[in-house]
Amino acid sequence: MATMDNVAVVVRALSILAVVCGAAHAKRPAGGAAPGTTGHPATFDVVELGATADGKTDSTKAVQDAWEAACGMAGEPTVLIPEGEFLTGPLNFTGPCKGHVTVQLDGTLLGSNDLPKYNQGNWIEILKVDNVVVNGSGTIDGQGADVWSDNYTVLPNSLVLDFVNNGTVSGIKLVNAKFFHINVYKSTGITIKNVTITAVADSPNTDGVHIGDSTDITVANSSIGTGDDCISIGPGSDHIAVQGISCGPGQGISIGCLGRFKDEQDVTDVTVRDCVIHNTTNGVRIKSYEDVLSPITASKVVFENIRMEGVANPVIVDQKYCPEKTCIDKKGNNTVTIKDVTFRNITGTSSTPEAVSLLCSDQLPCSGMELLDVNVEYAGNDNKTMAVCANAQGTSKGSLEALACL
Ligand SMILES: *[C@@H]1O[C@H](CO)[C@@H](O)[C@H](O)[C@H]1NC(C)=O
Ligand SMILES: *[C@@H]1O[C@H](CO)[C@@H](O)[C@H](O)[C@H]1NC(C)=O
Ligand SMILES: *[C@@H]1O[C@H](CO)[C@@H](O)[C@H](O)[C@H]1NC(C)=O
Ligand SMILES: *[C@@H]1O[C@H](CO)[C@@H](O)[C@H](O)[C@H]1NC(C)=O
Ligand SMILES: *[C@@H]1O[C@H](CO)[C@@H](O)[C@H](O)[C@H]1NC(C)=O
Ligand SMILES: *[C@@H]1O[C@H](CO)[C@@H](O)[C@H](O)[C@H]1NC(C)=O
Ligand SMILES: *[C@@H]1O[C@H](CO)[C@@H](O)[C@H](O)[C@H]1NC(C)=O
Ligand SMILES: *[C@@H]1O[C@H](CO)[C@@H](O)[C@H](O)[C@H]1NC(C)=O
Ligand SMILES: *[C@@H]1O[C@H](CO)[C@@H](O)[C@H](O)[C@H]1NC(C)=O
Ligand SMILES: *[C@@H]1O[C@H](CO)[C@@H](O)[C@H](O)[C@H]1NC(C)=O
Repeated sequence: MATMDNVAVVVRALSILAVVCGAAHAKRPAGGAAPGTTGHPATFDVVELGATADGKTDSTKAVQDAWEAACGMAGEPTVLIPEGEFLTGPLNFTGPCKGHVTVQLDGTLLGSNDLPKYNQGNWIEILKVDNVVVNGSGTIDGQGADVWSDNYTVLPNSLVLDFVNNGTVSGIKLVNAKFFHINVYKSTGITIKNVTITAVADSPNTDGVHIGDSTDITVANSSIGTGDDCISIGPGSDHIAVQGISCGPGQGISIGCLGRFKDEQDVTDVTVRDCVIHNTTNGVRIKSYEDVLSPITASKVVFENIRMEGVANPVIVDQKYCPEKTCIDKKGNNTVTIKDVTFRNITGTSSTPEAVSLLCSDQLPCSGMELLDVNVEYAGNDNKTMAVCANAQGTSKGSLEALACL
């Protein structure tokens, strides 16, 4: 019989599986109410609970105690991380909680680089908590630069929302995650807004926000530049709204990867609008593997009002995605269906001639594709702007003639 612990282990294993998809460097593993709170009765200040703001002393216990005290309290308790730098290892923010907890981050959390501590695969994990808020103007610093070159460890995601219903993350900065900056899994009703996410362009797998198996998720009004996707929308995503994102450097805003693991669910109802994408390898993208273990469909997708600035593949559907040629049993047997995808009002410049690439499968061609007012020009020589399309069916209207491949 499955115990709660077993369930939690399965959940974590799934979140780890979800994150290795598309990894440019997929890694394998080697192997009660707290006392002392004063001030406002519903505020648990980590310094009052023993945290040291010197960026060196391990403050994990004080932050964990603050969470447990707040989570055990009805009403609207706050965990306060005041100004200063606080070093911590994994933080287990598990619910259910009695009230609606806010984590107010004014200072900086520094993620410990003692990797064996992260045996669960995440740094700050909010698990099974409803109506949670993470806000403030502070910083979640994963200190990833020291461990990105480590070859043998599953590196932890920085901020994880697992099985969360109704959550908001706003105002904060996330920098140099060891792996993904924010990972949203099996959650509903989450808004991520007004955040800034940065890591250098050559940092591996540092996706800004990854979404998987989640419904009703909004990512808005944020600036994201990392070494991987600014935002990646994985299997099981439904009713996702991305709006007002400045993205770059990185790999753009992607749906995928799809078709990598068993028992994936469909992706449907995704809107990406009002974004500027600059200096990235891709603009707006759908990517799927061919070594598919479960037949799924990605449909009802709209990318609109997007400005590209020096993007290598501004509009791209790639059903033969396989970055490291590590695809197990690659048979060219695609079972991901892509249909009803609209690209509307996409403008700006491409850093390669191929401004549009629709590379669909001959077994399951993409259908219901629309290229409406797609006018992206190759910055090197606009006469060379071109589209590369295969097995894509649909309509083109108002787009550059060279790009109207449907
Ligand atoms: C996290 O906290 C929950 C609830 O307090 C507990 O049941 C669980 O065992 C903890 N998990 C870890 C990995 O410490
Ligand atoms: C953070 O969220 C709480 C709860 O919604 C709210 O009361 C507070 O004003 C917010 N703080 C900031 C800095 O946005
Ligand atoms: C990681 O692997 C690469 C290539 O396989 C190797 O060049 C590098 O030295 C390894 N780094 C570490 C820290 O083991
Ligand atoms: C989440 O928010 C919605 C809308 O405000 C509300 O109807 C729903 O009950 C909330 N869910 C939880 C688990 O609190
Ligand atoms: C965005 O967050 C910053 C803190 O990082 C805050 O000062 C600012 O008021 C927020 N802007 C909006 C529109 O909420
Ligand atoms: C684009 O990104 C690359 C890689 O980070 C960087 O070297 C280059 O300076 C950037 N170019 C612009 C115009 O920002
Ligand atoms: C993002 O900003 C726009 C323009 O200011 C605003 O209309 C929209 O409501 C904001 N989105 C969110 C989720 O706050
Ligand atoms: C096209 O998108 C741009 C932003 O890239 C926006 O300013 C403009 O209003 C949009 N045009 C239409 C007709 O919606
Ligand atoms: C693809 O896989 C399906 C299911 O395993 C199989 O029925 C079909 O024959 C395969 N097609 C090709 C072209 O290999
Ligand atoms: C594009 O082609 C036209 C006509 O062949 C030529 O006049 C123009 O200079 C070319 N533009 C560029 C940027 O090469």
